[in-house]
Amino acid sequence: NAFYVGMLLMLTLPLAYAQSQSAIEPASDQAKGISYIWWSMFWVALVIFVAVMLLLGWGLWKGRSKKPTQLSYLASRNLVVIAGVAIPLITVLCLVGGSLMLGRSLSAQPPDGALEVRITGWMWWWQIEYLDDNNKVIATTANELHIPVNRPIKLYLESGDVIHSFWVPQLHGKTDLIPGRTNSSWFEANVAGTFRGQCAEFCGLQHALMGFLVVAESKAEFQSWLKNQQSESQQPKNSETLAGQQVFFKTGCQQCHTIRGTDAAGTAGPDLTHLASRESIAAVTRKNSRAHLGGWIADPNGIKPGAKMPLSQLNAKQLSNLLDYLQSLD
Ligand code: CUA
Repeated sequence: NAFYVGMLLMLTLPLAYAQSQSAIEPASDQAKGISYIWWSMFWVALVIFVAVMLLLGWGLWKGRSKKPTQLSYLASRNLVVIAGVAIPLITVLCLVGGSLMLGRSLSAQPPDGALEVRITGWMWWWQIEYLDDNNKVIATTANELHIPVNRPIKLYLESGDVIHSFWVPQLHGKTDLIPGRTNSSWFEANVAGTFRGQCAEFCGLQHALMGFLVVAESKAEFQSWLKNQQSESQQPKNSETLAGQQVFFKTGCQQCHTIRGTDAAGTAGPDLTHLASRESIAAVTRKNSRAHLGGWIADPNGIKPGAKMPLSQLNAKQLSNLLDYLQSLD
Protein backbone atom coordinates (compact mmCIF):
# COMPACT_ATOMS: atom_id res chain seq x y z
CA ASN A 1 0.00 0.00 0.00
CA ALA A 2 2.85 2.33 0.78
CA PHE A 3 3.91 1.82 -2.81
CA TYR A 4 0.59 3.09 -4.18
CA VAL A 5 0.56 6.04 -1.78
CA GLY A 6 4.08 6.84 -2.93
CA MET A 7 3.10 6.64 -6.59
CA LEU A 8 0.09 8.85 -5.94
CA LEU A 9 2.28 11.39 -4.14
CA MET A 10 4.74 11.37 -7.01
CA LEU A 11 1.91 12.03 -9.44
CA THR A 12 0.39 14.88 -7.44
CA LEU A 13 3.65 16.48 -6.28
CA PRO A 14 4.36 18.28 -9.57
CA LEU A 15 0.81 19.64 -9.54
CA ALA A 16 1.37 21.25 -6.15
CA TYR A 17 3.46 24.04 -7.61
CA ALA A 18 4.12 23.48 -11.25
CA GLN A 19 5.43 25.89 -13.84
CA SER A 20 6.27 25.44 -17.42
CA GLN A 21 9.76 23.95 -17.85
CA SER A 22 10.11 22.41 -21.28
CA ALA A 23 13.03 22.46 -23.71
CA ILE A 24 10.66 21.87 -26.62
CA GLU A 25 8.50 24.94 -26.01
CA PRO A 26 11.18 27.56 -26.72
CA ALA A 27 10.64 31.23 -25.89
CA SER A 28 13.97 32.53 -27.25
CA ASP A 29 16.08 32.03 -30.37
CA GLN A 30 18.73 30.30 -28.24
CA ALA A 31 16.24 27.74 -26.93
CA LYS A 32 14.77 27.42 -30.44
CA GLY A 33 18.17 26.30 -31.73
CA ILE A 34 18.44 23.72 -28.97
CA SER A 35 14.93 22.41 -29.56
CA TYR A 36 15.68 22.21 -33.31
CA ILE A 37 18.64 19.91 -32.58
CA TRP A 38 16.46 17.91 -30.16
CA TRP A 39 13.74 17.39 -32.77
CA SER A 40 16.33 16.51 -35.45
CA MET A 41 17.71 13.79 -33.19
CA PHE A 42 14.21 12.61 -32.36
CA TRP A 43 13.16 12.22 -36.00
CA VAL A 44 16.43 10.61 -37.04
CA ALA A 45 16.14 8.14 -34.15
CA LEU A 46 12.52 7.45 -35.06
CA VAL A 47 13.36 6.69 -38.70
CA ILE A 48 16.19 4.36 -37.62
CA PHE A 49 13.94 2.64 -35.08
CA VAL A 50 11.18 2.03 -37.63
CA ALA A 51 13.69 0.80 -40.25
CA VAL A 52 15.29 -1.63 -37.79
CA MET A 53 11.90 -2.93 -36.65
CA LEU A 54 10.78 -3.45 -40.26
CA LEU A 55 14.00 -5.32 -41.08
CA LEU A 56 13.63 -7.42 -37.93
CA GLY A 57 10.02 -8.23 -38.84
CA TRP A 58 11.04 -9.08 -42.36
CA GLY A 59 13.85 -11.34 -41.08
CA LEU A 60 11.56 -13.16 -38.66
CA TRP A 61 8.93 -13.62 -41.36
CA LYS A 62 11.42 -14.98 -43.87
CA GLY A 63 13.12 -17.14 -41.21
CA ARG A 64 9.96 -19.16 -40.66
CA SER A 65 10.39 -21.05 -43.95
CA LYS A 66 12.52 -24.21 -43.98
CA LYS A 67 14.77 -22.75 -46.63
CA PRO A 68 15.63 -19.14 -45.56
CA THR A 69 16.48 -16.59 -48.22
CA GLN A 70 20.22 -16.12 -48.55
CA LEU A 71 21.62 -12.85 -49.88
CA SER A 72 24.51 -13.18 -52.28
CA TYR A 73 27.98 -12.41 -50.89
CA LEU A 74 28.08 -9.10 -52.75
CA ALA A 75 24.61 -8.01 -51.60
CA SER A 76 25.26 -8.83 -47.93
CA ARG A 77 28.63 -7.06 -48.07
CA ASN A 78 27.01 -3.96 -49.57
CA LEU A 79 24.30 -4.07 -46.89
CA VAL A 80 26.94 -4.04 -44.14
CA VAL A 81 29.01 -1.29 -45.77
CA ILE A 82 26.06 0.98 -46.60
CA ALA A 83 23.54 0.35 -43.81
CA GLY A 84 26.05 -0.62 -41.14
CA VAL A 85 28.86 1.90 -41.72
CA ALA A 86 28.09 4.66 -44.24
CA ILE A 87 24.59 5.67 -43.13
CA PRO A 88 25.35 5.71 -39.35
CA LEU A 89 28.59 7.63 -39.99
CA ILE A 90 26.89 10.28 -42.12
CA THR A 91 24.00 10.57 -39.64
CA VAL A 92 26.27 11.00 -36.63
CA LEU A 93 28.54 13.47 -38.48
CA CYS A 94 25.51 15.59 -39.47
CA LEU A 95 24.18 15.65 -35.90
CA VAL A 96 27.61 16.43 -34.41
CA GLY A 97 28.17 19.16 -37.02
CA GLY A 98 24.76 20.69 -36.31
CA SER A 99 25.31 20.73 -32.57
CA LEU A 100 28.85 22.17 -32.91
CA MET A 101 27.51 24.96 -35.13
CA LEU A 102 24.73 25.66 -32.64
CA GLY A 103 27.23 25.69 -29.75
CA ARG A 104 29.33 28.24 -31.63
CA SER A 105 26.41 30.54 -32.27
CA LEU A 106 25.21 30.25 -28.65
CA SER A 107 28.60 31.18 -27.22
CA ALA A 108 28.88 34.35 -29.34
CA GLN A 109 28.86 37.73 -27.61
CA PRO A 110 25.45 39.40 -27.15
CA PRO A 111 24.53 42.41 -29.31
CA ASP A 112 24.95 45.91 -27.82
CA GLY A 113 22.47 47.18 -25.30
CA ALA A 114 22.22 44.00 -23.27
CA LEU A 115 20.82 44.14 -19.76
CA GLU A 116 23.52 42.84 -17.42
CA VAL A 117 22.68 40.69 -14.43
CA ARG A 118 24.94 38.87 -12.01
CA ILE A 119 23.58 35.62 -10.64
CA THR A 120 25.25 33.90 -7.71
CA GLY A 121 24.36 30.35 -6.76
CA TRP A 122 24.15 29.46 -3.07
CA MET A 123 23.11 26.25 -1.37
CA TRP A 124 20.17 26.35 -2.25
CA TRP A 125 18.94 29.61 -3.68
CA TRP A 126 19.81 32.23 -6.29
CA GLN A 127 21.07 35.75 -5.64
CA ILE A 128 20.16 38.10 -8.48
CA GLU A 129 21.88 41.48 -8.91
CA TYR A 130 21.11 43.99 -11.66
CA LEU A 131 24.16 45.92 -12.86
CA ASP A 132 24.51 49.33 -14.46
CA ASP A 133 27.03 50.27 -17.17
CA ASN A 134 29.82 50.55 -14.58
CA ASN A 135 29.08 47.11 -13.15
CA LYS A 136 27.61 48.70 -10.04
CA VAL A 137 24.73 46.81 -8.41
CA ILE A 138 21.49 48.76 -8.81
CA ALA A 139 19.01 46.21 -7.44
CA THR A 140 19.20 42.90 -5.59
CA THR A 141 16.61 40.18 -5.35
CA ALA A 142 16.42 36.41 -5.03
CA ASN A 143 15.05 33.45 -6.98
CA GLU A 144 13.03 35.59 -9.39
CA LEU A 145 14.70 37.10 -12.45
CA HIS A 146 12.57 39.75 -14.14
CA ILE A 147 13.57 40.62 -17.69
CA PRO A 148 12.15 42.72 -20.51
CA VAL A 149 11.17 40.83 -23.68
CA ASN A 150 13.06 41.48 -26.93
CA ARG A 151 16.18 42.75 -25.21
CA PRO A 152 19.38 40.70 -24.88
CA ILE A 153 20.13 39.66 -21.30
CA LYS A 154 23.75 39.07 -20.42
CA LEU A 155 24.34 36.93 -17.35
CA TYR A 156 27.46 36.78 -15.20
CA LEU A 157 27.26 33.48 -13.38
CA GLU A 158 29.14 32.94 -10.13
CA SER A 159 28.97 30.66 -7.13
CA GLY A 160 29.27 31.36 -3.42
CA ASP A 161 29.98 27.78 -2.39
CA VAL A 162 29.85 24.73 -4.69
CA ILE A 163 29.20 24.18 -8.40
CA HIS A 164 25.65 24.90 -9.51
CA SER A 165 24.22 25.15 -13.00
CA PHE A 166 21.82 27.76 -14.36
CA TRP A 167 19.17 26.24 -16.57
CA VAL A 168 15.94 27.67 -17.98
CA PRO A 169 14.90 25.10 -20.61
CA GLN A 170 12.57 27.51 -22.43
CA LEU A 171 15.25 30.20 -22.74
CA HIS A 172 18.67 28.57 -22.94
CA GLY A 173 20.81 25.53 -22.23
CA LYS A 174 22.77 25.00 -19.04
CA THR A 175 25.71 27.10 -17.87
CA ASP A 176 27.65 26.13 -14.75
CA LEU A 177 28.31 28.48 -11.84
CA ILE A 178 31.79 27.66 -10.61
CA PRO A 179 33.43 28.93 -7.40
CA GLY A 180 36.25 31.38 -8.14
CA ARG A 181 35.33 32.17 -11.72
CA THR A 182 32.72 34.05 -13.72
CA ASN A 183 30.93 32.32 -16.57
CA SER A 184 28.73 34.26 -18.91
CA SER A 185 25.78 33.48 -21.08
CA TRP A 186 23.14 35.48 -22.92
CA PHE A 187 19.67 35.07 -24.32
CA GLU A 188 16.76 37.17 -25.48
CA ALA A 189 13.19 36.16 -24.64
CA ASN A 190 10.81 36.83 -27.49
CA VAL A 191 7.57 36.05 -25.72
CA ALA A 192 6.29 37.27 -22.37
CA GLY A 193 5.64 34.72 -19.67
CA THR A 194 6.94 33.06 -16.53
CA PHE A 195 9.49 30.34 -17.12
CA ARG A 196 10.78 27.98 -14.47
CA GLY A 197 14.51 27.46 -14.07
CA GLN A 198 16.32 24.78 -12.14
CA CYS A 199 19.79 24.12 -10.79
CA ALA A 200 21.19 21.48 -13.13
CA GLU A 201 24.33 20.41 -11.28
CA PHE A 202 24.09 18.25 -8.18
CA CYS A 203 24.95 20.53 -5.26
CA GLY A 204 23.79 18.75 -2.15
CA LEU A 205 20.70 17.79 -0.22
CA GLN A 206 18.31 20.35 -1.72
CA HIS A 207 19.64 20.39 -5.28
CA ALA A 208 16.24 19.31 -6.59
CA LEU A 209 14.55 22.18 -4.73
CA MET A 210 16.86 24.88 -6.07
CA GLY A 211 14.45 26.44 -8.51
CA PHE A 212 13.91 29.97 -9.77
CA LEU A 213 11.53 31.88 -11.99
CA VAL A 214 12.24 34.04 -15.00
CA VAL A 215 9.49 36.58 -15.55
CA ALA A 216 9.67 38.04 -19.05
CA GLU A 217 7.49 41.13 -19.36
CA SER A 218 7.00 44.24 -21.48
CA LYS A 219 9.56 47.02 -21.26
CA ALA A 220 7.17 49.25 -19.30
CA GLU A 221 6.26 46.51 -16.82
CA PHE A 222 9.91 45.65 -16.34
CA GLN A 223 10.91 49.28 -15.77
CA SER A 224 8.24 49.78 -13.11
CA TRP A 225 9.25 46.51 -11.43
CA LEU A 226 12.92 47.55 -11.43
CA LYS A 227 12.11 50.99 -10.09
CA ASN A 228 10.23 49.44 -7.19
CA GLN A 229 13.07 46.98 -6.48
CA GLN A 230 15.58 49.84 -6.40
CA SER A 231 13.62 51.71 -3.75
CA GLU A 232 14.19 51.10 -0.07
CA SER A 233 11.63 49.10 1.86
CA GLN A 234 8.59 50.78 3.32
CA GLN A 235 8.71 51.75 6.96
CA PRO A 236 6.16 50.02 9.24
CA LYS A 237 2.83 51.80 8.87
CA ASN A 238 0.87 50.33 11.79
CA SER A 239 1.43 48.80 15.21
CA GLU A 240 1.41 45.20 13.89
CA THR A 241 4.09 45.75 11.27
CA LEU A 242 6.12 47.83 13.74
CA ALA A 243 5.91 45.00 16.28
CA GLY A 244 6.85 42.57 13.49
CA GLN A 245 9.93 44.61 12.64
CA GLN A 246 10.96 44.45 16.29
CA VAL A 247 10.50 40.66 16.26
CA PHE A 248 12.68 40.55 13.13
CA PHE A 249 15.57 42.30 14.89
CA LYS A 250 15.07 40.61 18.27
CA THR A 251 15.20 37.18 16.60
CA GLY A 252 18.42 38.10 14.80
CA CYS A 253 17.07 37.78 11.24
CA GLN A 254 19.26 40.77 10.26
CA GLN A 255 22.39 38.69 10.81
CA CYS A 256 21.64 36.82 7.58
CA HIS A 257 19.14 39.01 5.70
CA THR A 258 19.21 42.50 4.25
CA ILE A 259 16.23 44.82 4.21
CA ARG A 260 17.32 48.05 2.55
CA GLY A 261 16.10 51.11 4.42
CA THR A 262 16.67 49.40 7.79
CA ASP A 263 19.72 48.30 9.77
CA ALA A 264 19.37 44.75 8.46
CA ALA A 265 22.39 44.12 6.23
CA GLY A 266 23.18 40.40 6.52
CA THR A 267 24.35 38.67 3.38
CA ALA A 268 24.22 34.96 4.22
CA GLY A 269 20.58 34.63 3.12
CA PRO A 270 18.37 36.21 0.45
CA ASP A 271 17.78 39.97 0.42
CA LEU A 272 14.25 40.47 1.74
CA THR A 273 13.73 44.12 0.78
CA HIS A 274 10.77 43.51 -1.52
CA LEU A 275 9.94 39.99 -0.41
CA ALA A 276 6.18 40.49 -0.77
CA SER A 277 6.60 41.28 -4.48
CA ARG A 278 7.88 37.76 -5.18
CA GLU A 279 5.72 34.95 -6.41
CA SER A 280 7.42 32.18 -4.44
CA ILE A 281 9.63 31.55 -1.42
CA ALA A 282 12.41 29.08 -0.60
CA ALA A 283 13.66 28.90 -4.22
CA VAL A 284 10.26 28.16 -5.78
CA THR A 285 9.51 25.46 -3.21
CA ARG A 286 6.33 27.18 -2.00
CA LYS A 287 3.99 29.92 -3.16
CA ASN A 288 4.58 33.22 -1.38
CA SER A 289 1.46 33.12 0.79
CA ARG A 290 1.05 33.94 4.45
CA ALA A 291 0.54 30.28 5.36
CA HIS A 292 3.63 29.06 3.49
CA LEU A 293 5.79 31.92 4.76
CA GLY A 294 4.66 31.15 8.32
CA GLY A 295 5.42 27.46 7.88
CA TRP A 296 8.81 28.28 6.44
CA ILE A 297 9.79 30.62 9.29
CA ALA A 298 8.50 28.20 11.94
CA ASP A 299 10.42 25.21 10.57
CA PRO A 300 12.59 25.77 7.50
CA ASN A 301 14.19 22.36 7.76
CA GLY A 302 10.76 20.76 7.69
CA ILE A 303 10.43 22.09 4.13
CA LYS A 304 14.08 21.94 3.05
CA PRO A 305 16.21 19.67 5.25
CA GLY A 306 19.73 21.07 5.38
CA ALA A 307 18.68 24.68 4.79
CA LYS A 308 20.87 27.09 6.75
CA MET A 309 17.89 29.07 8.06
CA PRO A 310 17.53 28.13 11.75
CA LEU A 311 14.40 27.06 13.57
CA SER A 312 12.67 30.05 15.14
CA GLN A 313 11.31 30.06 18.68
CA LEU A 314 8.45 32.48 18.11
CA ASN A 315 5.06 32.34 19.76
CA ALA A 316 1.91 32.70 17.65
CA LYS A 317 1.61 36.44 18.25
CA GLN A 318 5.24 37.13 17.37
CA LEU A 319 4.98 35.00 14.22
CA SER A 320 1.80 36.78 13.19
CA ASN A 321 3.42 40.21 13.67
CA LEU A 322 6.55 39.12 11.80
CA LEU A 323 4.37 37.90 8.92
CA ASP A 324 2.52 41.23 8.91
CA TYR A 325 5.85 42.99 8.59
CA LEU A 326 7.31 40.71 5.91
CA GLN A 327 4.10 40.86 3.88
CA SER A 328 4.22 44.65 3.99
CA LEU A 329 7.57 44.59 2.16
CA ASP A 330 6.18 45.01 -1.32
CU1 CUA B 1 22.56 24.10 -6.97
CU2 CUA B 1 22.12 21.93 -7.74
